[in-house]
Amino acid sequence: MRRTWELRSLADTAALAAVLGGRLRPGGALLLEGDLGAGKTTFVQALARHYGVARPVTSPTFTLVNAYPLPHGGRLVHADLYRLAGPEGFYDLGLDEAAEEGARVVVEWPCRAAGPLAAAFPDRLSLRLETRPDGSRLATLTED
Ligand SMILES: Nc1ncnc2c1ncn2[C@@H]1O[C@H](COP(=O)(O)OP(=O)(O)OP(=O)(O)O)[C@@H](O)[C@H]1O
Ligand SMILES: [Mg+2]
Repeated sequence: MRRTWELRSLADTAALAAVLGGRLRPGGALLLEGDLGAGKTTFVQALARHYGVARPVTSPTFTLVNAYPLPHGGRLVHADLYRLAGPEGFYDLGLDEAAEEGARVVVEWPCRAAGPLAAAFPDRLSLRLETRPDGSRLATLTED
């Protein structure tokens, strides 16, 4: 299944985060693909707001993983694999354990560990973000 949205503003991003936030199940993953600056972290910030996270959500550029407890239970786990040295480093991040505990996992730069991610998350959504010449974003959802 494939669906696309045109994101002309941060309000559009927030609306899409609400839709996909409802689809992302405990133990499931949402893989965020797209170039540098495409809006992946911005999307995670909107998703966290949708789930009621009050703490500011920042990019886990160097920590690679940040986790936020959700007011209704469970956790939102945000990973950025851009600086992952190799796919085998994936297993040090604890994302598969987080999923077993029912966390909702969102991953920027999933291409850095595509194989391990596919194995750890049979139940996953992929969202590709692309910047268009007018500055708006095109978001394409695929379900594996
Ligand atoms: N829907 C949108 N409309 C307009 N601007 C946006 C939108 N989404 C994100 N932006 C802007 O794009 C910039 C980069 O966004 P962001 O940091 O989320 O990108 P990223 O994909 O996480 O990049 P990186 O690969 O470096 O982690 C920010 O200034 C953000 O405000
Ligand atoms: Mg980012």
